[in-house]
Parts: sequence; C-alpha cells; structure tokens
Amino acid sequence: MAKLAIDGGVPLRSKPYPSWPQWGVQEEEALKQTLYSGQWWAPGGTQVKAFEAEFAAYHGARYGVAVASGSAALEVCLRAARIDWGDEVITTPYTFIATASACLLVGAIPRFVDILPDTWNIDPGKVEAAITSRTKAIIPVHIGGEPADMDAIIEIARRHNLVVIEDACQAHGAAWRGRRVGALGDMGCFSFQASKNVTAGEGGIILTDDEGWAEKCWSVSNVGHKRRGEWYKDIALASNYRLSEWAGAILRVQLGRLDEQMARRSSNAAYLSEALAQVEGLDPLPGDPRVTRNAYHLYKIWYNPEAFGGHSAKEFAAAMQAEGIPLSVGYTEPLYRQRMVAERRAFIREKLDLRGEFSEECPVAEQVCMRGLWLRQSALLGTREDMDDVVRAALKIQQAWRG
Ligand SMILES: Cc1ncc(COP(=O)(O)O)c(C=O)c1O
Repeated sequence: MAKLAIDGGVPLRSKPYPSWPQWGVQEEEALKQTLYSGQWWAPGGTQVKAFEAEFAAYHGARYGVAVASGSAALEVCLRAARIDWGDEVITTPYTFIATASACLLVGAIPRFVDILPDTWNIDPGKVEAAITSRTKAIIPVHIGGEPADMDAIIEIARRHNLVVIEDACQAHGAAWRGRRVGALGDMGCFSFQASKNVTAGEGGIILTDDEGWAEKCWSVSNVGHKRRGEWYKDIALASNYRLSEWAGAILRVQLGRLDEQMARRSSNAAYLSEALAQVEGLDPLPGDPRVTRNAYHLYKIWYNPEAFGGHSAKEFAAAMQAEGIPLSVGYTEPLYRQRMVAERRAFIREKLDLRGEFSEECPVAEQVCMRGLWLRQSALLGTREDMDDVVRAALKIQQAWRG
C-alpha cells in the first residue's frame, strides 16, 4: 500500500493546479490606458462607469453601482434600505463573516436560518418561523456560486414586506431558472476580492433593477452626495466606498474572460461529479435542478468520515493537500457560534433593552461545518487529468486509512 504524503510518502502529484488570478496583455493595456488618461478617480473617469454598465448588462440588471468590496456592497445596501439599530435581518449561518458583519455594523441583528443539505443554501421552509415584527430584510447567500431558491424567498419577502438583498459575492454569472443573479431580489452584492471568479484584488458591485435603490446606493457609497444635483448641497450621512479606476479597468477585461472560464468550470465539475462516484464517502451535492448556471466558485462535497476510517474532514483535507490536491474544509463554525457575532448581538439587544430569546437550531449547518469540503474555482480551470487526480488521491488515502 502506498505510504501517504502526509506520513512522509511520495505525493501523488507535484504539478500545481492552475493559479489565480489569470491575466494577459489586455489587463496590462487597460492599466496603461488608465495611467496615461490621468483620470484615476471614478466619478471623473470612464472605466468604472463602463464596468458598472457592462457587469449589470451581463447579469440582465438595469443598474450597477461599483464599490470598494463585497462587504461594502452589503453594508451600502443595508444603509440604503435604512436598516437600522434593532432591526432584524434573516440570513444563513453558513457564509463568510461579512454577511453577518454588515448587519451588525449598521446595528441590525442577523437571525440565522438553517440551510438545505442539497445546496447548503438557506432553507426557505424555515424562514417564516424566524420572522418577527423587527424583521426588515432577507439576505440569501448563493453559496459557492449556486443560487439559493429565489422563487420561495421572494414570495415570502413580498408577503412580509421585506427587502431582499442577494449576497452573490461568490456567484458571478450564476443563473436561477434562466435569470442571472444580482437583481432577482431588490439589490444584489458581488465581490471582486482576490479569490473571486471575477477579480481586481479587491472591489465590489451592487446590482438592481430599481432606479431608486441605485441612486440611494450611489449616494451611500459616495459620501452622501447626490449623483444629480449640487455636489456640496443636501449631503446625507455616509462614507466613501468608491472603487478606483484601476480596478474598473482590470474588471472590464476580467469580465470578458468569464464566459469561457465558466464553461470550463462547468464541464470539469460535471466530469468530477461522475468520477467521484468511484469514491465512497465523497458525495458531490445534488444541487437544485432550477439552478441553470452554477458559478462554481466552490465545488462542494459532503465528506463521510466513516468511509475513511473515522478520520475527520480536516484530517482528510490535510492529507489531500499533502498529495498535491487543493481540497479544503469550508467554514468550520456556523456564524452564530462566532464570539464576535454573539457578543455584538447581545450588545445591540442590551442597548435597546430588547427582551425575549430566540433559538437558532441549524443542524444542517452544524453538519456541513464538520463534514463539508471545498475545491476552489481555479482548480476547476484545469484539465481532465487534474480532475482524475482528485479521485486518485482520495482513493489512495481511503485505502491507507481503511487498511
Ligand atoms: C459570501 C460572501 N459574502 C461577502 C463577502 C465579502 O466580500 P469582500 O471580501 O469583497 O469584502 C465574501 C467574500 O469574501 C463572500 O464570500
């Protein structure tokens, strides 16, 4: 039996998987053009404005408002919707911390609803039980680039008069029943941070079909100015969350690469899902058939320790990495277990003298935090052989651990 790399054996592969970000002379040209234009500031420039229009059009949305990050996008949407101290926002505990932090930063209380085992997205069947008189918004997160059940979420939101803010930070180009995400709800947020499928290192955008939301978001991210009107008159309380022209220029080129990269990711993901059928205990998610385009920011896998001699997902991921496979565990704690979230929620409730407890039982999220694995998007840009190596390494480890 082959000795595992984690135990000092020879790794299954030494060749790296595709690196990220990917770029070429077009990005270089775009940066040079911006440099020599002398216009590096978005309100006076052309790149960010063009990118806003192009990214919105790509997603079938009418308006785009570029901002400094996905975190900023979420906060700007909440502020635009006047979500304030003591308001409640329903979201999922299986997401990046920024989804919850944005709520807490405006003084709102995130309420966490469990996720579905087939997608790891919010379970719409459990949303209504979490709605109270304080609830103002729902933030569905399209986790890993796979859209949440937007039909159900929008229907619930309309009935309870809630704002829907999509956290599409991982879901560039993804589609729900043929419609691209971002403006399915009231507003949608994307991130262009370094790991994301469209990136400028940092950056974000808000998409919406509603001119009113677009103008409010623009103002909240532009120090409270009004887009049309006198610059120094009638200023609202807000900060500067603008994106620079450098990022805008890069993002326009990166967006042009997205279709081809998405096709490669989808094709490799389909191939990998079939190939993983050979490995007991590694189960790709069945997904939701209404998802017509998965962005595959993360390829998500359920791990069963029993099929690997009782070793944890963390131990398995470490063994895979030692074999040269960039598989990782995902979020390891539902957000309600994060100390900061608990403390900040308690602080807000105490300040406002809010009484009454809420119970948050999210058994599926608890399981995913223990048994969920991710293969990141850039690995899916590789070859069929790169996918086969995922399977080969998993079988090698399984053999060694099962004895
Ligand atoms: C689901 C989710 N929401 C929000 C964010 C925040 O985006 P950013 O890192 O651009 O602030 C991220 C990205 O890291 C994310 O993955």
